Amino acid sequence: MSVSVLFVCLGNICRSPLAEAAFREVARRDGFPALVDSAGTGNWHAGQAPDHRAQAVALDNGIDISAFRARQIEKVDFGRFDHIIALDDNNLAELKTLRGGRSKARLSLLLDHVPGRKGHGVKDPYYGDAEGFRATWDDVWMASEALLASLKSGTI
Ligand code: 4NP
Repeated sequence: MSVSVLFVCLGNICRSPLAEAAFREVARRDGFPALVDSAGTGNWHAGQAPDHRAQAVALDNGIDISAFRARQIEKVDFGRFDHIIALDDNNLAELKTLRGGRSKARLSLLLDHVPGRKGHGVKDPYYGDAEGFRATWDDVWMASEALLASLKSGTI
């Protein structure tokens, strides 16, 4: 049986596409069956490819995300995904508001899955430089490995 995971940030052009790419690759290498997607809480960038700096850092790590397209999260996502994982606290608060009463999806903060980083957000690199995007990649890659371990051990 495959586990479904949706990563959510604000614009769906920087952090959550990188989390989607990293987790998909970590799961693929492990042979772990997972359905992986990403979305934004906002709609400003809907239909757009990831930020060119996000595309560049993914490519530096061997992954082409140029065909990804941003979308805004929808109510139905809460019934479609097993896990909806927020990149920062603001995204998580927004998800809790949108979710309403009943939902299949379990909500969490990405770095909650990393020992020692519980409660931390992945810093928004949008207004920064390439170095910020490298830090984002390091965060989402490490968190993807930790998330996979948690999913495999059934601790989330
Ligand atoms: P993301 O980054 O949430 O990681 O995709 C941002 C992208 C766009 C904006 C803010 C953050 N924006 O203000 O347009």
